Amino acid sequence: MKNIVILISGRGSNMQAIVEAGIPGARVAAVIANRPDAAGLAWAAERGIATAALDHKAYASREAFDAALAETIDAHAPDLVVLAGFMRILTEGFTRRYEGRMLNIHPSLLPAFPGLHTHERALEMGCKLAGCTVHFVTAELDHGPIVAQGAVSVLDGDTPDSLAARVLKLEHQLYPEAVRRFAAGEIAVVDGKVASGPEAAASLLSPVPSSKA
Ligand code: GAR
Repeated sequence: MKNIVILISGRGSNMQAIVEAGIPGARVAAVIANRPDAAGLAWAAERGIATAALDHKAYASREAFDAALAETIDAHAPDLVVLAGFMRILTEGFTRRYEGRMLNIHPSLLPAFPGLHTHERALEMGCKLAGCTVHFVTAELDHGPIVAQGAVSVLDGDTPDSLAARVLKLEHQLYPEAVRRFAAGEIAVVDGKVASGPEAAASLLSPVPSSKA
């Protein structure tokens, strides 16, 4: 059974989609938030999932927060760490610790529009397509090997909110499927790219992933 630890900052609708997908061979071992008032924590706790809140404001530095977060995560022996609306810039040490086993979802077609306000920026640019990206996390914000993308058409009269709502529906389909593929050993990072099939399986069998060799 693969252990998944999910990090959230707010409502956690992507976390809910992953929990409700009931991914074969995997269990959501814990949901951790950097904000004690994150609504998703109560939702997870009601379903018997272990939860924890680490208020980032209580730590003197980004490094100190990330160290405490890693300790909390590692107590659940994670095979995969899933960032689901976790709105924190992560230190390089933290991203290295979970290299090849930490996924993020971002509400744009990366590499376009990393960072905040993605839908506003897509509308300002007159984009005809918008969407979301699931990627492995690297030290660079909203970068890293791409696992999956979904696109929607931008419609006349779209607002940032209407676009966000349409993209969010897609996120809820894309993210559980990406997590399922990771848990099944169907994907892995090989030489900085996402490999699937036998190449992924071979890299998962070797003690040192070839991306680190
Ligand atoms: C989602 O749209 C996710 O893509 C985005 O935050 C939202 C969280 O919603 N993440 C980022 O912007 C990360 N850069 P949720 O809490 O309901 O899953």
